[in-house]
Amino acid sequence: MEIKVFENDSDLARCAADYFEETITAKPDAVLGLATGASPVETYKELIRRCKAGRISFKKVTTFNLDEYCDLPRDDKNSYYTFMRENLFDKIDIPAENVHIEDGNAADPDAECRAYDEKIKAAGRIDLQLLGIGTNGHIGFNEPAEAFTEGTFRIRLSESTVKANSRYFTDSAMPEYAVTMGIGSIMRAKRILLIATGAAKAEAIRNTVKGPISPACPASVLRLHPDAVLLLDAEAAALL
Ligand code: PGA
Repeated sequence: MEIKVFENDSDLARCAADYFEETITAKPDAVLGLATGASPVETYKELIRRCKAGRISFKKVTTFNLDEYCDLPRDDKNSYYTFMRENLFDKIDIPAENVHIEDGNAADPDAECRAYDEKIKAAGRIDLQLLGIGTNGHIGFNEPAEAFTEGTFRIRLSESTVKANSRYFTDSAMPEYAVTMGIGSIMRAKRILLIATGAAKAEAIRNTVKGPISPACPASVLRLHPDAVLLLDAEAAALL
């Protein structure tokens, strides 16, 4: 696992965007795995700038998002569908049909999860997978567990995730469940980039890098990946 530590968020975002630019330049029809949350926002801004400047195009790119809340209308201001439109998709040249996000409101969640895995499979391997990390070491919404997960599945969010994300749900209750790509799906990506900034992530990063490889800290599995890169700021790297 490669670890890069940056002095500020813009240097980190530029480096993350460089990985995307390299991937898309080498393979214009690349398959990208995308993340939501605060961590990727600066990187998305940099990708939007590069797309508007004509350096990169997403016209042939296919994307799969990691996760989506259950029981939240797709157009709710806190859905990850809305997040992705506002922070990336509405501002780049990606065709709407190339974008995939789980349906958190499917009548049959298991069938939706299987269908999502089939779509990923049909698109080929994910070339570049972007990740944030939870304060509890989760990636996607793969919460600390007894065993590493495989494909897409529905999960009850942990107390620490509810605590971390409920700040966004100012006028509605935060959903208790989400649908997430599994660890197996994430690990099949050719390259994985994990972004972590701020002191709140320091312990999770220490457990990821120095703790046992264990589903108790889901991100620790990235040490088994041949091309995983951690992009950190000094605060997130403070306990390494
Ligand atoms: P954050 O969330 O980027 O908003 O900190 C990351 C995560 O929970 O995976």
